[in-house]
Amino acid sequence: MNKIKQVQKYWDEYTTEIQTQFTSKELGSREYFQEIKIHHDKAYALSNQILDIPNLTGKSVLEVGCGIGLDALEYAKHGARVTAIDLSPICINLAKRYFSYNNLNGVLRIGNAEQLPYEDNEFDVVVARQILMFTPDPQKAVDEMLRVLKPGGEAVALLHNRHSWYALLGKVTGTNLVAQAKDPPVNTLHSIKEANQMFQKFSVVKIILDKFPSKTKRRTGVLARLYNLAFIPVTKIIPTRIIKPFGWYIIIKAIK
Ligand SMILES: C[S@@+](CC[C@H](N)C(=O)[O-])C[C@H]1O[C@@H](n2cnc3c(N)ncnc32)[C@H](O)[C@@H]1O
Repeated sequence: MNKIKQVQKYWDEYTTEIQTQFTSKELGSREYFQEIKIHHDKAYALSNQILDIPNLTGKSVLEVGCGIGLDALEYAKHGARVTAIDLSPICINLAKRYFSYNNLNGVLRIGNAEQLPYEDNEFDVVVARQILMFTPDPQKAVDEMLRVLKPGGEAVALLHNRHSWYALLGKVTGTNLVAQAKDPPVNTLHSIKEANQMFQKFSVVKIILDKFPSKTKRRTGVLARLYNLAFIPVTKIIPTRIIKPFGWYIIIKAIK
């Protein structure tokens, strides 16, 4: 099986099985989306601000690796003309259902970020959050984002920081903190320098670090208790300017 096929298969399975860590509601029910969205919005608070969702009104927005469509729907709610693609047919079917619950339109289709099925200079905004680390050739995907953006268009992406407290914690505890069950077939961590290099063909690139230690409610057991009662209080003592470069999320805002 080629790598892209493996990635697709993994995310099909992840969506149906592992995502139940965020909800016990029936897959694809209205409540399923509502419960996952609560967790999702917390994690994306800063990158949503950077994306400036209210300002997407009337713009053509492409979301690459849209998952179950939680963000794509938000853009549509704010009046954006939304196109969203994902490798996983299960994700796209769920995203379509989520749009239909909300009576909103969007072009949602199966597609590969590394070979976008769009013309050059088509979109005002391209978003790719938590997808570039999971695709075999992330540089190819970034080059595709640049190609389909109009001149002056904006890209917002989110990578995982190799030199972060979260990656270190995963190493020390020997736990896969990205996906709690099976490892994704592709799961690349990037440094800030590499993130800058990936987007160097854009005219302006801004990098913001996000996701610092906070208590976990999702995990139980001894390690989770240790994390909440010992690790978190210690990290709170560290001054912000010191901990800042070690955020788990590398948010990139780049202009073509
Ligand atoms: C962690 S989920 C993130 C979904 C969504 N962007 C979010 O932030 O909630 C990763 C998604 O990337 C998709 N993906 C991975 N590689 C892809 C590729 N080459 N083309 C399109 N989608 C891809 C997966 O199918 C999966 O739905």
